Amino acid sequence: MKAIRSAAILRDTLHGPRYEKKRIGLVPTMGAFHAGHLSLMREAKDEHHLVVVSLFVNPTQFDDPEDLDRYPRTLVDDMDKAEAAGVDILFHPTGEEIYPKGFDTRVEVGDIAHRFEGEGRPGHFAGVATVVAKLLNIVQPHTAYFGLKDYQQSLVVRRMVADLNLPVEVVCMPTVREPDGLALSSRNQRLDADSRTRAAGLYRVLGRLRNDLLAAETGAPTAALLDAGRTELETVHGLHVDYLVLAHPDTLAPLPKVVRSMVLLAAVRVGGVRLIDNIEIHRTHGGGRAKAAAEAAG
Ligand code: PAJ
Repeated sequence: MKAIRSAAILRDTLHGPRYEKKRIGLVPTMGAFHAGHLSLMREAKDEHHLVVVSLFVNPTQFDDPEDLDRYPRTLVDDMDKAEAAGVDILFHPTGEEIYPKGFDTRVEVGDIAHRFEGEGRPGHFAGVATVVAKLLNIVQPHTAYFGLKDYQQSLVVRRMVADLNLPVEVVCMPTVREPDGLALSSRNQRLDADSRTRAAGLYRVLGRLRNDLLAAETGAPTAALLDAGRTELETVHGLHVDYLVLAHPDTLAPLPKVVRSMVLLAAVRVGGVRLIDNIEIHRTHGGGRAKAAAEAAG
C-alpha cells in the first residue's frame, strides 16, 4: 500500500491506471478504523482494481473545537488495517493541502441537510459536502463508498452528486454492529463501562419501535409510539435523547402517520459521548401480516 500526502502526486499516481481503464474505488474516512470502515474498503476492493482510502479529519465539519481535538488519530494502526483490507493507496493530506491559504468556496447544502444532525450542528453538512466534493475531484473514482450508519450524510452526498452532476456512483453499505447491536463508531472508545452498557439500549429501542411500526395499520399516527420510545431511551436506559424521529427515507420529511417506507433516526448522549443510529423500515403489507412476518424473522 502506498501512503500519499499530496493531491498532485495522487493524481499522477492514478494517471497510469486510469489510462489502462482500471476501475478506481474511493472510501472517504476520518481514520480510527473499525470493522465498519473495513467493510467499506473490502467491498470497494471486491468491485475495483484499485482502492483509494482518504484519511482526513476534516475541521470544517466539526462545530465543537473540543470534539475535533478529541477525535482519535491512530495513523500507524490505520495503515496496517487498511493494508490488510486490500487498500492500494492511503491518501492522508495535511490541512493546508485541502484548505490552502485563501480557500473561500463551499458547497451549499439544501433542505435534507438542515434537519436533525444539521439542526444541532450548524455548518456540519456543508463541511462534509465540501470535503467530499474535493475528494471526489482529486481522486475521480468510478465509485465512492459511504456507510448507512450516517444515514443523513449518505443522503446529503447522494443529493450533491445528483445535483452537481458529479460523475461517480455512490454506494451505501449497511451498518456494522457490535454483538449487542451498538453501531460501531470511533466515538465508542470514549464510553466508560456503564455508558457502554446503556448505549446498547439505543438499537434495542429502535428495533422494538421497528417491530411496532411493522405491526401498526397503514395511516396510524406515529407520535405516541415515538413518545414511548423516547421515554424508554431516557428512563430505562438512561440516555439523553437529542432527537428520535420517523422520516421519509429519501427526503427525511417527518412522518406523522405510518406509511410503506420509513426510517427511524436517533441521536442520544451518554457519558459525554453523542451517538447516532438509524433503522430503515419497509412494510410489504398493510398491518397484521407485516407483524407476523416481523415475528417470524425474529
Ligand atoms: P468517518 O466517520 O470516518 O466514516 C467514514 C465512513 O465509514 C462513512 O461513510 C461512515 O458512514 C462509515 N461508517 C462509520 N461507521 C460505520 C459502521 N458502523 N458501519 C458501516 N459504515 C460505517 O463519515 C465520515 O468519516 C466523514 O464525514 C467523511 C464522509 C469522511 C467526510 O469527512
